[in-house]
Amino acid sequence: MKKILVTGAFGFIGSHLVEFLTSKGYNVIAFDRYNINNDYGWLNNSKYKNDIEFCLGDIRDFDSVYKVVNRSKSIFHLAALIGIPYSYLSPLAYLKTNLEGTYNILESAKNCKINNILITSTSEVYGSAVKIPIDENHRLLGQSPYSASKIAADQLALSYYLSFKLPIKIVRPFNTFGPRQSTRAIIPTIISQLMQNTKSIKLGNVNTKRDYTYVNDVCSAFLEISKSRNLFGEVTNISTNQNYSIVEILNIISKLMKVNPEIIKDKKRVRPKNSEVIELIGDNLKLKNNTKWKNNYSFKKGLKETINWYKKNKHKYNFIDYHV
Ligand SMILES: NC(=O)c1ccc[n+]([C@@H]2O[C@H](COP(=O)([O-])OP(=O)(O)OC[C@H]3O[C@@H](n4cnc5c(N)ncnc54)[C@H](O)[C@@H]3O)[C@@H](O)[C@H]2O)c1
Repeated sequence: MKKILVTGAFGFIGSHLVEFLTSKGYNVIAFDRYNINNDYGWLNNSKYKNDIEFCLGDIRDFDSVYKVVNRSKSIFHLAALIGIPYSYLSPLAYLKTNLEGTYNILESAKNCKINNILITSTSEVYGSAVKIPIDENHRLLGQSPYSASKIAADQLALSYYLSFKLPIKIVRPFNTFGPRQSTRAIIPTIISQLMQNTKSIKLGNVNTKRDYTYVNDVCSAFLEISKSRNLFGEVTNISTNQNYSIVEILNIISKLMKVNPEIIKDKKRVRPKNSEVIELIGDNLKLKNNTKWKNNYSFKKGLKETINWYKKNKHKYNFIDYHV
């Protein structure tokens, strides 16, 4: 029996998506980077471990991708390098993983006649908003090598739809948050710093605004988009139509954690001026008009779940002073 392939399955969103699909009765192959320890990342202790098929390989390696795609009936492609700061240091690594990795998926899917392929993009491809809320027709601007590699991958996927009728759908999540996210991301950075020090917090630019969707809602959006018959060859935003600045998030989290920290500006956390995306807020009308998706977690409810999870799981993190 052919299964649903999830790439990037051991990471933050991928591990939630694998568990979400498995809980709904789908048979999933969880694909992520080869390692000699059979380390399945966030799926190591999953309650669904016995129901998941694990496949170790490398998204940059056509052979390993082709072989797993050939055993699949549909694909959720999430594997990527996602850190913006490291993309300043090693842009080529981002092209190899994010662009060439997507090529490997598309070309394999074409040869194996896969009938439903979700390619995961990101709201970072829009650059700073010129018009808000940002709909799918907003102009694209690669303000970081990460964003540029994702724009390139999106365009390649669209070209496979237009040239070869490959049934792709591009999903464009705005910021996602929830349990298991790297403490380099802003919400876990705030929570983890406040768990260690309630008096002060080191942050970069606190005025940037983003649109945050709780990870469970992102997973249900992935599934709804994959089920839609209308969204082949289309880009679909996943967002809440609401945004928050970092200082606003700090205030909400501080209230929930009952602390009152002083902000210390940390220059290491500030991005190069022209690379910093000032404001993102996503228009989710297309998602709502074409699927049954709705946002089940308010921002505050998602933050409460996230704070509780980080408190329970602090032993799993090495809280070093990250450059975010
Ligand atoms: N987290 C967000 O807020 C967000 C927002 C928009 C879009 N996205 C996109 O969602 C996807 C998942 O992001 P995430 O936040 O879960 O990141 P993550 O870093 O937690 O997960 C990425 C996964 O890809 C895997 N991977 C990287 N290189 C690989 C390789 N060479 N071969 C096989 N696997 C490899 C990693 O091991 C990791 O498990 C990415 O495509 C990202 O661009 C994330």
